[in-house]
Amino acid sequence: MPVFFQHHINENTCLGVWKIEETEDFFLKHVTAQREIRHPVKRLQHLAGRYLLQYLFPDFPNDEIAVSSSGRPFLNSRHFFFSVSHCRDFAAGIVSRVSEVGIDVELVQPKVEKLSEKFLSEAELRGFKELDTVQRTLFWSVKEAVFKWYGKGGVDFRSDIMIYHHDPDAQKLICFFHKKKIPLEVCYRIFDSLVLTWIVS
Ligand SMILES: CC(C)(COP(=O)(O)OP(=O)(O)OC[C@H]1O[C@@H](n2cnc3c(N)ncnc32)[C@H](O)[C@@H]1OP(=O)(O)O)[C@@H](O)C(=O)NCCC(=O)NCCS
Repeated sequence: MPVFFQHHINENTCLGVWKIEETEDFFLKHVTAQREIRHPVKRLQHLAGRYLLQYLFPDFPNDEIAVSSSGRPFLNSRHFFFSVSHCRDFAAGIVSRVSEVGIDVELVQPKVEKLSEKFLSEAELRGFKELDTVQRTLFWSVKEAVFKWYGKGGVDFRSDIMIYHHDPDAQKLICFFHKKKIPLEVCYRIFDSLVLTWIVS
């Protein structure tokens, strides 16, 4: 079964992670690419993401997807809200009939250590002491999910998104999103070296 993880958040919202084991031909029987993508791995990831949306909601109209000036894919009809992410041989997607959504999937890699000061504020680094590589990847992924949920671009990860609470038991974090002046709850799962985050709001 290529669906690695599936989660029915409620009757209107569902997410999944697809482990890509198929070739491009498999996906091309069901979906087309939104644009020309030269890199074969990126093209495969893109097609798997589009396929996953339809897998989660069979009536999802892939052929009606438009792309905003910021790069966010969306449906003019607003019959569904959705978000897609990919990394290596994983594609993640979340679809909702009613709420704006954002999703991100990241591999835990040591390079996040060096990047941390670019996306974490001094207050966050002070508040969450001794963050390890997994936690740093999680925090990065949280901010990517918020970025995608917002969809308009122009977000400074250090100053616009402030993570202030982490509940490992509930697998949730709370951040304050200064662009909208609201708190946002971001859920997550960690599978070995893969971090998945999502937001429904
Ligand atoms: C645009 C961005 C979200 C794409 O990320 P990526 O590394 O290619 O990773 P992902 O695979 O997780 O996401 C790609 C998907 O994001 C979606 N996406 C792209 N731009 C988007 C946007 N502005 N809003 C919402 N979703 C967007 C698309 O669905 C895309 O997949 P598709 O082209 O197959 O449909 C990301 O590169 C980015 O710009 N992040 C912000 C970085 C930043 O501002 N950092 C500053 C602090 S260091």
